[in-house]
Amino acid sequence: MNTLLLHCRPGFESEVCAEIAEHAARLELAGYAKARPDTACAEFICSDPGGAERLMAGVRFSQLIFVRQWARGGFIELPEKDRISVLLAHLAAYPAFGSLWLEVLDTNDGKELSGFCKKFEAPLRKALTAAGRLVEDARKARLLLTFRSGREVFVGVAEANNSALWPMGIPRLKFPREAPSRSTLKLEEAWHTFIPREQWDERLSDEMTAVDLGAAPGGWTYQLVRRGMLVTAIDNGPMAESLMDTGLVQHLMVDGFTWKPKHPVDWMVCDIVEKPARSAALLEAWIGEGHCREAVVNLKLPMKQRYAEVRRLLERIAEGFAARRIKVSIACKQLYHDREEVTCHLRRLSK
Ligand SMILES: C[S@@+](CC[C@H](N)C(=O)[O-])C[C@H]1O[C@@H](n2cnc3c(N)ncnc32)[C@H](O)[C@@H]1O
Repeated sequence: MNTLLLHCRPGFESEVCAEIAEHAARLELAGYAKARPDTACAEFICSDPGGAERLMAGVRFSQLIFVRQWARGGFIELPEKDRISVLLAHLAAYPAFGSLWLEVLDTNDGKELSGFCKKFEAPLRKALTAAGRLVEDARKARLLLTFRSGREVFVGVAEANNSALWPMGIPRLKFPREAPSRSTLKLEEAWHTFIPREQWDERLSDEMTAVDLGAAPGGWTYQLVRRGMLVTAIDNGPMAESLMDTGLVQHLMVDGFTWKPKHPVDWMVCDIVEKPARSAALLEAWIGEGHCREAVVNLKLPMKQRYAEVRRLLERIAEGFAARRIKVSIACKQLYHDREEVTCHLRRLSK
């Protein structure tokens, strides 16, 4: 029960292994990471007693780039009938949990299993509650059951305030029909991920101005307009007319890498497909030179050494701010709606 299970986008298992192994090494925790390709998960097997718990305590979930969800525990086998009794017996040694999520991995097998989980959840919840193993309490640890099949489940524990916001780390966002492109969900997910909900009115307010670099046809601009912001949309391509009709958008057909606003804006967002080093330098310049206070920028991933490359870029950005002596919070995550990319969020904290 001293293993971490880490969910991720299929194909990114080795990035997760590299990432978690680096954190374990930093915390001087012995163990090893393992994963099979395209299984949408990795495991970190801890050799020190209590190692998995210490590893989770030493890492903020929000720091992890390629990990969608995590839990400490271990796999157990379940019989074909009366799985609930086996789970109850296994959980007898644990303190009561504050919530329960049934999860699967983000693979085709996982999708097939989600029907089983839906059916299994209600009776399991009832039995756990009756046995005093589950009491609705957001401060208590969450029980995360990740089913690999109907016969095998990872019984995992995670702190509710240090794990994913949604089961499997996958937000269920509804595509707004009026939005001009599906990538609109990327910016919406970024806000859910990086900005606590109770701060939205203040940090995404209708008194703000924003610049959208690489804006066409306007999926990201749509989100900014939906918050009531005045948006400068930069792209040689056409913007959706519905957005231009709002009167909140100014469209400029110029190069997003050289154009700068005359007056500082509150937000800069950028979804241009470019070399990640160039996008990172743009991000650093906008925040560093005071053109914007907050930014969301997509970094396309290289083919190889994806984790090492992202870490290198983030370090370079942080060094840039240190040299300018300005305080900036930097976060980076591979969002559910990201493919071969990660999303960075930066917020200038000092004047
Ligand atoms: C992935 S699309 C953006 C999609 C947009 N975020 C949305 O939600 O609809 C990338 C856009 O970047 C634009 N682009 C590429 N290079 C650019 C540059 N140097 N300056 C401005 N826009 C650029 C392209 O024309 C393209 O429309």
